[in-house]
Amino acid sequence: MQIFRRRIKGAPKIIVVGNLKGGTGKSTVAVNTACALGDMGHRTVVVDTDPQKSATLWSSGGQLPVGVAEFPLRDLNAAGEWIEELDVLRTGYARLVIDLPAVVSPVLASAFLVADVILIPSSPSQVDVQATRRTLKFVAQTRRERGANPPHVLIVPSQVRRGWFDDGGVKQQLTSLSEDMTPPVRHDKRFGEAFQARQWIGDVAPGSRAHRDIVAVSRDIEARMAPVRGTAPRIEPSPVTA
Ligand SMILES: Nc1ncnc2c1ncn2[C@@H]1O[C@H](COP(=O)(O)OP(=O)(O)OP(=O)(O)O)[C@@H](O)[C@H]1O
Ligand SMILES: [Mg+2]
Repeated sequence: MQIFRRRIKGAPKIIVVGNLKGGTGKSTVAVNTACALGDMGHRTVVVDTDPQKSATLWSSGGQLPVGVAEFPLRDLNAAGEWIEELDVLRTGYARLVIDLPAVVSPVLASAFLVADVILIPSSPSQVDVQATRRTLKFVAQTRRERGANPPHVLIVPSQVRRGWFDDGGVKQQLTSLSEDMTPPVRHDKRFGEAFQARQWIGDVAPGSRAHRDIVAVSRDIEARMAPVRGTAPRIEPSPVTA
């Protein structure tokens, strides 16, 4: 695909946040991770492809440190144009964080095709894990299509409740997906408060455990995207006590 041939060293990175299950924390992870990446010095934009426009609404108070670009797929047959327009958008940024809707659509397939990293937020509940398995079928298809240039795929344990790490059963649920995992984003009502305030967690509750969780996910993403010299170290989620 042309877009990959044009990609050069140091080119903008595309981080796609998706899961076919609604409410797993995609927009929360997308907006807050983008803000954390911005805080780390990367010029970042959130690309809102969801007709629900959660990320756009989050930015509506003008208080987020990064921009949000509405970027829906206007026409189901216009996936090629969508990728070309995205290619234009990425010229101004170092990081694009794409927030996907919870539906199978050409925008999901297109975003997976251009992703450097695919983040899949999932709670350890049975329902979420089943939906995540369905999402991973599209990941498998993407890996086949991209051949020697696969994306990094990371499960983001999301809305993790107290004791999760002590409960072998639920942790096992996510481990059974056999994909790499970021550190968890624990359940914390301050994420809801951040949305209400139209701010990111780093401004609403700086230094809080919710903020630290988001920073840890952002650092993990950056570490995995860093150029590999020799053998890449395997990054394991850090133990957490809620
Ligand atoms: N770590 C968390 N702790 C507590 N609440 C959370 C957390 N992550 C998300 N939520 C809450 O869960 C709800 C759904 O979150 P969010 O909108 O981010 O999910 P989504 O996957 O983007 O949903 P959709 O599929 O509708 O786009 C929101 O009320 C949000 O505040
Ligand atoms: Mg959403």
